[in-house]
Amino acid sequence: MTQTVPVLKPDSMAVHTTIAELRHHVSGWRRQGSTVALVPTMGALHDGHLALIRQAKKCADRVVASIFVNPTQFSVHEDLAAYPRREAEDTAVLAKAGVDALFLPSVTEMYPPDFATSVRVTGVSDGLCATARPDHFAGVALVVTKLLLQALPDFALFGEKDYQQLQVIRRLVRDLDIPVTVVGVPTVRETDGLAMSSRNAYLTSAERQIAPDLHRILDHVAARLAEGALFAELSDAATSHLLGVGFQSVDYIEFRDADDLTPLDRASRPGRLLAAARLGRTRLIDNVPVPIAR
Ligand code: PAJ
Repeated sequence: MTQTVPVLKPDSMAVHTTIAELRHHVSGWRRQGSTVALVPTMGALHDGHLALIRQAKKCADRVVASIFVNPTQFSVHEDLAAYPRREAEDTAVLAKAGVDALFLPSVTEMYPPDFATSVRVTGVSDGLCATARPDHFAGVALVVTKLLLQALPDFALFGEKDYQQLQVIRRLVRDLDIPVTVVGVPTVRETDGLAMSSRNAYLTSAERQIAPDLHRILDHVAARLAEGALFAELSDAATSHLLGVGFQSVDYIEFRDADDLTPLDRASRPGRLLAAARLGRTRLIDNVPVPIAR
């Protein structure tokens, strides 16, 4: 059977909508001895996504990006329908960034009507964001497993912005012996410290002024932890601060082991301070590293 590889001029980035086309293209690269990096996204691209693309180009000879707003990681009351979709703009941005192939599957290509399989990662998927979004990481684990098996890349890049997601993916790759190197990329921020996110578009201008406080308070608490303070002495004040500046609610502020995400009471091991808080109709998440206390 002959398969054609559609190529968009002038940037020569191929756009594939089927798994068969993607596989055909990637296996051609492999036969030439090229290495491949995959950058999965849900589109509405910003500079955070582009940092992943730049890092991917350093890791491998060829870069595949995917855009798929994955329905299985949204619960019924979440923003699946409202999630920003900018396919044409995103395609142009990726072509300009030097991506070799874009995978743009439909929902039925990824999940045919008789789809019946789930992927669940325990431990690192529990608590933190899973408390408010109980099925979220099963949806992420499922779609990322599929994308990795579809593209079979040497490297797959994910942002530290979604730190729990990154650790879930590291664990599933290890547990399922998927032959890929997972690369975590540091969070890209606006100049005032707000972590870039497709969901920042939901913020009103008043909320946008308040939003960087999430990062500010994390930096402040992280500095105290690095000086040897106990997390229990800091967490209530951090929550009160966020409520005081205008956040409606704080889903969590937690101090965890940077690798397995088990709770830490002090910075006795490399740690991660993670938070989620609601500002208007937007749920913001952020996290920062915490070094071992001096
Ligand atoms: P999405 O939110 O589009 O993010 C795609 C990738 O970009 C993720 O690895 C995310 O961590 C990274 N990213 C987002 N904002 C970033 C920032 N400010 N700095 C650095 N990296 C950033 O995360 C998802 O999509 C999905 O869950 C996905 C992994 C694609 C599975 O559907």
